[in-house]
Amino acid sequence: MSDTLTLVDHPLVQHKLSLMRDKECSTAKFRRLLREISQFLAYEALRDLPLTTRRVETPMEAMDAPVLEGKKLVFVSILRAGNGLLDGLLELVPGARVGFIGLYRDPETLHPVEYYKKLPGELGARPVVLVDPMLATANSAIAAIDNVKRAGAKDVRFICLLAAPEGVAKMAQAHPDVRIYTAAVDSHLNDHGYIVPGLGDAGDRMFGTK
Ligand code: PRP
Ligand code: URA
Repeated sequence: MSDTLTLVDHPLVQHKLSLMRDKECSTAKFRRLLREISQFLAYEALRDLPLTTRRVETPMEAMDAPVLEGKKLVFVSILRAGNGLLDGLLELVPGARVGFIGLYRDPETLHPVEYYKKLPGELGARPVVLVDPMLATANSAIAAIDNVKRAGAKDVRFICLLAAPEGVAKMAQAHPDVRIYTAAVDSHLNDHGYIVPGLGDAGDRMFGTK
């Protein structure tokens, strides 16, 4: 498919994603499943984090035990649906710094409109993981990545739940250095820029709006 993409197709992830796709899945269940899947995605996206050692006294003896090295990593949630992934990631990495980029897609042009931004400092010295459940045209993800790179980010990763082939290709062109971690790549985008078969509007399903 693309050498900038990691497909996280663990059987539990596939099962949980299928439950989320069902249009009868409740808001509460949808949020819980997204939080659960986010932790499998993060497991892959963060598997190369550098380690150092710290002296630890176990009840038996002292040892040099592995611990994460360097500055705290950064999660950047693309509002609003990104917050559904962020919740799970913060359970795994409670000390992470958190940024927010507020974007919504103009339904006519499918171009993102920015309405909010707040990013942590020293982005250039930290791994930066952007999160948004849906990579459709990739216009939102590309705009968000442009933003963090302008702010100095160098090590940038992107976690989503579902991607369209069109979005994966566009991301690889715009930001070939940014690896995408996703649970599935679906068939195509429809005329309104929705992923097919997809799961509908992730934000609406997560927050119970229309
Ligand atoms: C959705 C989704 C992404 C974007 C993906 O957000 O969460 O941010 O669409 O589409 P794209 O790849 O074509 O840009 P939406 O604009 O619906 O806003 P919301 O999160 O506030 O619901
Ligand atoms: N945004 C969504 O929430 N769903 C899609 O299928 C495409 C963009």
